[in-house]
Amino acid sequence: MTIEPAATDGVFLITGASSGIGAATARQAALAGWRLVLAARSQEKLDALADELGGAERALAVRCDVTDWDAQQRLAALALETYGQIDAVFANAGFGGARGFLADTPENWREMVLTNVYGAALTLRATIPALKRSRGHLLLTSSVAGRRALPGSFYSCTKHAVTAMGEAARLDLNGSGVRVTLIEPGVVDTPFFERRPSAALLDDDIARAVMYALAQPPHVDVNEILIRPTTQPL
Ligand SMILES: NC(=O)c1ccc[n+]([C@@H]2O[C@H](COP(=O)([O-])OP(=O)(O)OC[C@H]3O[C@@H](n4cnc5c(N)ncnc54)[C@H](OP(=O)(O)O)[C@@H]3O)[C@@H](O)[C@H]2O)c1
Repeated sequence: MTIEPAATDGVFLITGASSGIGAATARQAALAGWRLVLAARSQEKLDALADELGGAERALAVRCDVTDWDAQQRLAALALETYGQIDAVFANAGFGGARGFLADTPENWREMVLTNVYGAALTLRATIPALKRSRGHLLLTSSVAGRRALPGSFYSCTKHAVTAMGEAARLDLNGSGVRVTLIEPGVVDTPFFERRPSAALLDDDIARAVMYALAQPPHVDVNEILIRPTTQPL
């Protein structure tokens, strides 16, 4: 992929950028001229993506476990040291588990809460001061599962919390100029699933929704985007 010179030069920080929706969003944002701060735990994947997107001047790879407050603070500080500003943040890191309240393990539930809920909240907390200065844009990945409960899905419980977090943040930030968008995908073919789903959306489909919300003029806040594959009933 050839990256053209920046059109916006805004700085976009993405968690869960090493794979799937986060990586696809980083690629589309780079094409639109954003400088990227790419965060996840897989340093090698982040380094490869940062190289692909133009190297240190255009993309910074930062190893960050979102459940770790110190790491999240370092992530925001590194972004500011390197690029001087943060204009958009995508709190996107997350994972799922087996459905059925007797199927998944308590340990996995704990990690899911820490990653999907606490981790997203820490990303907000670490970046809101910079977003207020830039009158920027905060996006969070919830899910269709964050809008309707799925049978036995503890994951669905964590994503309901993310949906609430997006609305709580929107109300908290109202008047600051910061926009807040919840992205709510149905089934997307990413490594999120151990077995590839059929009739699924592509990570690029979700990335386009993110880019749509980002591209709106400052007075337009796209609050929620819920996207299913055309064939997905629930
Ligand atoms: N795929 C779907 O059908 C679907 C539908 C609705 C919502 N979602 C949501 O979309 C988001 C992205 O998922 P995806 O589908 O793109 O799956 P994915 O390809 O598995 O990506 C998940 C990303 O989250 C990162 N991550 C996980 N735990 C982390 C942690 N503790 N600290 C930092 N990063 C962490 C992973 O990176 P490392 O492993 O390198 O840390 C990876 O980059 C998730 O929030 C997911 O719940 C997915």
